[in-house]
Amino acid sequence: MDDLLHLARRMMLRAHAPYSKFHVGAAVRAEDGSIHGGCNVENAAYPQGTCAEAGAIAAMVAAGGKRILECVVIGPGPGVITPCGGCRQKLREFASDDLPVHLCGPDGLHRTVTLGHLLPMSFGPHHLEKR
Ligand code: THU
Repeated sequence: MDDLLHLARRMMLRAHAPYSKFHVGAAVRAEDGSIHGGCNVENAAYPQGTCAEAGAIAAMVAAGGKRILECVVIGPGPGVITPCGGCRQKLREFASDDLPVHLCGPDGLHRTVTLGHLLPMSFGPHHLEKR
């Protein structure tokens, strides 16, 4: 998880968050071991802004990744940052309930939870299979 945290930290420094001033970084590990990062990218047209997790997931998919094995999210602290509802669902597309999500601050790891904990009884790709 150290490599993921290191990347997520670097991503957080690149956040474009002039409106909220809340800088977030994220990093995911794909099934082949490769890691991919993203930061939040806000927009003057507020709803067009994107979250750090969305950026990391997009980078992974663009690199050919199909599964997420581990995820780090880092916020400015001091509280524990948790992925927003939309990002929980975005993670769900590429991971199962047992995905470890490491919630971090500038001082390091605050808490590790599973995606199933964050998004119980989730709707996922399996709901659309064999119809
Ligand atoms: N943000 C993320 O990047 N990820 C989350 O899971 C929570 C929120 C960003 C979106 C916005 O740019 C800023 O944090 C404040 O909501």
